[in-house]
Amino acid sequence: MVAAAVLALNLFATAARGAGAGPPPPPHDISSCLTSNGVSNFSLPSSPSYTPLLCSSIRYLRFENNPSVGKPAAVVFPASKQELQRAVVCARNTSLAIRVRSGGHSYEGLSYTTENHVPFVVIDLANLNRVHVDPGSATVWAESGTTLGELYYAVGRSNRTLAFPGGTCSTVGLGGIISGGGFGLLSRKFGLAADNVLDATLIDPSGNTLTRATMDGDVFWAIRGGGGGSFGVVYSWTLRLVPVPDKITVFSGERTGPADLIAPLIHKWQYVGPHLPDEFYISTRIYFPGNLNMTFTGQFLVPKQQALSVLNQTYPELGLAESELSEVSWLESAAKFAELKSVAELTDRQIGVGEYAKRKSDYSQGPISKEHMVEIARYMSRAPTTGSVQLNPYGAVMARIGSTETPFPHRAGYLYSIQYAIDWTAADNGRRGGEFMAWLRAFYAFMAPHVSSNPRGAYVNYVDLDLGTDNWTEPTGIGASYSYNAMVGQKAAASWGQRYFLHNFDRLVRAKAKVDPENVFNNAQSIPPSL
Ligand code: FDA
Repeated sequence: MVAAAVLALNLFATAARGAGAGPPPPPHDISSCLTSNGVSNFSLPSSPSYTPLLCSSIRYLRFENNPSVGKPAAVVFPASKQELQRAVVCARNTSLAIRVRSGGHSYEGLSYTTENHVPFVVIDLANLNRVHVDPGSATVWAESGTTLGELYYAVGRSNRTLAFPGGTCSTVGLGGIISGGGFGLLSRKFGLAADNVLDATLIDPSGNTLTRATMDGDVFWAIRGGGGGSFGVVYSWTLRLVPVPDKITVFSGERTGPADLIAPLIHKWQYVGPHLPDEFYISTRIYFPGNLNMTFTGQFLVPKQQALSVLNQTYPELGLAESELSEVSWLESAAKFAELKSVAELTDRQIGVGEYAKRKSDYSQGPISKEHMVEIARYMSRAPTTGSVQLNPYGAVMARIGSTETPFPHRAGYLYSIQYAIDWTAADNGRRGGEFMAWLRAFYAFMAPHVSSNPRGAYVNYVDLDLGTDNWTEPTGIGASYSYNAMVGQKAAASWGQRYFLHNFDRLVRAKAKVDPENVFNNAQSIPPSL
């Protein structure tokens, strides 16, 4: 009761500040604010638990093992919506920037780092992972710290013929992936994860709770694909589940060879993947250097014989054999494509290891010619270290959802997305890591004539700071946000915002101005409250 009363005071003070009353004197520090508000599950730099907890979901080791990356003043693990609200208010009252982390998979570490050593707190939602499936209404309610694997497990265990269209990696968090769209193996049939959001609970900069019924329409639109970390903390999602057959067909195979042999196979994929019936998903990843290894991920919502027949007609170059296909439940398919040994491993939040890596993305609006594909394949085969290019097919329902229905604009006319990846070992970190990233950037530049342009598209969930960053000034007082440098605003926004969101960027700015005009929730590529 005491904690609740203190929080109420803090919330009142924050609201009053907006009305011009000025900020209250800050509690001494984040620790005493949290404690006095009844939030006990947090770790400070002086604690032995601090580093393990901070690193518990860091997937990109170039941010973990980097002395130039600033560390948070505290890592807080709220266990309820109320504790989450209190953590937000305490961060503001102690002048700390807020970084919200769900699964920790941000490609640029945006959920646990800040720019320019700005003091900050990490609010980690790992303990907010409750899921309630309602098979009767084909819906699920889940807290944002839930991982995809935890969600899939709960859904698949409740009913074999219900599923959710999210991504493949089981440890990705709902908070990040849905906020940025969320593409997966069911997206050609059912759209993105964000297309299947029915409701959400958002904690705003003052710690207040907003739902679809009480938040502005632009804000509800913005949180379904406008990128994480800009509009508040999404505490929970209510999601539409989709029907799948009791058994579906899966395929994972590989074809290996020199660039000249693999290039025609990639070339043909462009005419197959995006044009198959809605029930068919076949993506490919090309690993380099040297001989190229082309792996396929296929998930077909039809029986095996039908899948075999359609693929052999449309993609005979693949030489698909019946033995390469198998029939499994959707849940088993989710575990298989997450590269897990069993369905039970879907609930393991710590499975898998971190990597030294860099990612970039593109979109294709027209097939690359066979001649150019050979040149591209040869370029990849000469890479200085291990990497890959992932091609994800769009079309089908992805193309039938309007480009303004959610902030995610890459719909009709987009054939496939491209994800470039380069990886290196701990031993190569440092100078060689820099060389490898430079190679990836050069490859990205080489690809420019073959991909979407004006602007060159990118996927916000494959966040890439090379595209440009906001230029925030220093914090300016208790509970104050960072102000946006208007002089560079338009240029900065154009450099990255329009690539992720095209014509939807301006509406995102309007939504931001409505829910977070003081820009409390910001990061290197968050939506500015004005241009
Ligand atoms: P993380 O916790 O790092 O958050 C990412 C961003 O969202 C940060 O800016 C963070 O502050 C913000 N955020 C987190 N929780 C929030 C909340 N509750 N409210 C508001 N903001 C919040 N994508 C895809 O579409 N399909 C796929 O199949 C895959 N596969 C995949 C595999 C692997 C191994 C990785 C590393 C990444 C992917 N992705 C992906 C990309 C993934 O969607 C992207 O990295 C997400 O932002 C990750 O969300 P997390 O919550 O895990 O990250």
